[in-house]
Amino acid sequence: MDKLRSQCLSCCACPLSATRTNVVFGVGPVPSEIVFVGEGPGQNEDLQGEPFVGAAGQLLDGMLSIIDLSRENCYITNIVKCRPPQNRDPLPEEQDACIGYLEAQLAILKPKIVVCLGRVAAKRLIRSDFRITAEHGVWTKKDDVYYTAFYHPSALLRDPSKRPDAFTDLLILRDKAHALGIL
Ligand code: URA
Repeated sequence: MDKLRSQCLSCCACPLSATRTNVVFGVGPVPSEIVFVGEGPGQNEDLQGEPFVGAAGQLLDGMLSIIDLSRENCYITNIVKCRPPQNRDPLPEEQDACIGYLEAQLAILKPKIVVCLGRVAAKRLIRSDFRITAEHGVWTKKDDVYYTAFYHPSALLRDPSKRPDAFTDLLILRDKAHALGIL
């Protein structure tokens, strides 16, 4: 993973590399049984080089703690490792340029569960026509790995009415983890 990280830190495969402060590679133990994947770094993440350290990240940390998860016992990363300007969604070609790093991370991490945080990650990792409102908390098994999607923490900050559903999704994750002998 250290070798992959150092390759990623010097990546110039797409135009996002020109405007980044830091590459945001990912954080957590290697291997990890549970991996969370967001869409891409925001301003705070770009400045600090760590995923989910802004307001959305604080909410994520609080959510994870409800089910005894933290940065010490799961891995957190993003679809793209460099900040898209103005926090826009990463473009398909930026995702294409970066997805090899995530694929390599997952090959090393060997998770049993991958949780997509938000629509962008779910469309990329689960199904291109994934509908986050209808399908959050639903499991899809691919190559022996269970995938699901949560509402993005930023969406929960914007729209607190989604929080009860987000809580249910956390319990769904805890149940699946227990069923797989994790946690
Ligand atoms: N939003 C994301 O999708 N990823 C981060 O790392 C931070 C905010």
